[in-house]
Order: sequence, then C-alpha cells, then structure tokens
Amino acid sequence: MRRKMANFGVSPRLAVLLGESYRTVELALKELVDNAWDANAVTVEVQLPTAMAPDAKIVIADNGEGMNEKQVREDYLRIARDRRKDRGTRTPPPLSREVKGRKGVGKFAGIIVAEVMAIETKQKGAAARFRIDRKALEETPGDIARIEVPIETAACDAEETGTTITLTHLAQSLNFPTPESLRHALAPDYAREERFTIKANGSRLDHLQVAGHKAVETLSVPGVGGVQAEFVVSEKKLPKAMQGIVIKVKGKIVGGPRFFNLEQDETVPRTCCNICLACCMRTSLKTKRPAPAG
Ligand SMILES: Nc1ncnc2c1ncn2[C@@H]1O[C@H](COP(=O)(O)OP(=O)(O)OP(=O)(O)O)[C@@H](O)[C@H]1O
Ligand SMILES: [Mg+2]
Repeated sequence: MRRKMANFGVSPRLAVLLGESYRTVELALKELVDNAWDANAVTVEVQLPTAMAPDAKIVIADNGEGMNEKQVREDYLRIARDRRKDRGTRTPPPLSREVKGRKGVGKFAGIIVAEVMAIETKQKGAAARFRIDRKALEETPGDIARIEVPIETAACDAEETGTTITLTHLAQSLNFPTPESLRHALAPDYAREERFTIKANGSRLDHLQVAGHKAVETLSVPGVGGVQAEFVVSEKKLPKAMQGIVIKVKGKIVGGPRFFNLEQDETVPRTCCNICLACCMRTSLKTKRPAPAG
C-alpha cells in the first residue's frame, strides 16, 4: 500500500460565501462598525450615498488604533483568526471594551455590499493601503492563499490614526441603506454607548433617536446630586438590548438594563403601547457626584 499526503485547499470563493450570510446591507455594514469598536475607535463616520448611482460609494471611517503593515498581513488578511486568543477578550485600557470579533471573517461583509473594498489604515505615522476585489475572489482559480494583495505604504501625519474603508461598485440589487435604516440596525448594540460616537451622513446615533415619546429631565437626588433622566417610550416593541433602564456614571453604563419594578406598577399606563410600557421603555441616568462639603 502506498500513502500520499494531501492538503486542504481553500477556494477564493469561500470569502464571497462568508460575506453572503448577512440578512441586510445594514447588518453587513454593522460588521465594519464592530471592527471599529474593537479597534477602540471613539468615532466612526459612515457616509451613505443619497442615490444608488453607478459611482455611489459607502465610506466607513474610524479613528481607532489602525493597523501597521504587519497587522494588515497577519491579522486582517488572515481568515478565521481568533483575535481574542491573540489579544484577549477586552480591548486595551482605558476603554477596555468587550471584543466583538470572534470569527476572523467579518471584513468580508464589505464585499457583499460592494465589488471593491479599499482599505486605508494609519498608525504611528505610517499609512497602508490595499484593496479586496470581489471579482478577483470569484474568478481566480486555485487557492485563496495565492491571491496577491499589494499593500502600498507611505508616511502620514503621526496624529492620524484609524481605518477608512471605501466601498465602491455597490451591488445594485441590494436594498438601499439609509442613515435611518443603518441607525436602526446599530441602535441595539450602540445607541447607549457614550464613548463611541457613530455618525451616519453627519447625524449622530443616540438613544433619543429611537422613535417614540421622549422626555429629558434633570433631577436632584439627595446624596447623589444632579441626575439627568432620559426616557424614550416606544410604541413598538424594541429589541431586547434596548429595553429597560440603564444607569450611567460619568458616561459609563454600570450593570445591565433593569426595570426597577416599573413593569409591576399599576400607575404606569399600559394602553399607550401594545406591549407593557416598562418593557418598551429605556432611559439613561447620568449622575454627578455632589461637590464635597465645605
Ligand atoms: N477598522 C479596523 N481597525 C483596526 N483593525 C481592524 C479593523 N478592521 C479589522 N481589523 C483587524 O482585522 C482583523 C480581522 O477582522 P474581521 O472582522 O475579519 O474579524 P474579527 O473582527 O476578528 O472577527 P469577526 O469575524 O467575528 O468579525 C480584526 O481582528 C482586527 O485585528
Ligand atoms: Mg470583525
């Protein structure tokens, strides 16, 4: 008996298949926003086209840690790498966010939306640029490892850090994303985050944009000081992550959302929405410590 060795091969089409698992364009774009979150970005600006013209583009620009050339090769271009094994489950302090990236494939969400994904990333005075081309992935025979990805590097301002992804040759068959529909997709994870500003065509995502009755009030709580209460009572049932009341101290959410027994309070009118009012209510309380006496 003779024994010959064999190896797994990976068709470049795998990248396209991985990108095809998103139900909506907005959820595909959310993958790129999740990457900005994991990069400790404080701001991510998304530019959406106002018409699906042939030259329309979508830009996702973050001011996170960016990548150097080595990280582009070893982290970005590596399929199915588990970043949490390499770098832990939290992002570096002071933000120390829980890392969202798990599978090492989320970037391919970009190529379901667009035929060409151009990435420019800057870190410590060096910029790296490269692109991922859907056609090349679909049409190149052989193994994905053999697809060449030229990386251009250049010096840049040391202050400029972050990653910008430009999606062009947008898939015409997709439902047209609007700032509203994108905000809707991002709100469950991000509407309550104060240290992560997401702008879609210049307007900021925040929890008060959720459709419903709104109230903002400043209260004085003995022993605590000024407390800002912000409520949105929605007519529709909100995704679970947006239900309940969260407490924020110095912009940081403390603990998870709770209802504080409001759902059992008979004075809370239930007729104004289909579901129980408390289940549809969300608020943030911002507390300020009282000034020390004397
Ligand atoms: N905007 C970004 N800024 C800095 N690094 C990034 C950015 N986007 C991606 N990366 C790097 O590229 C890696 C691969 O991203 P990708 O989204 O494919 O996988 P992931 O985030 O690790 O996991 P998942 O598939 O669950 O999203 C990331 O782990 C990160 O190291
Ligand atoms: Mg990711």
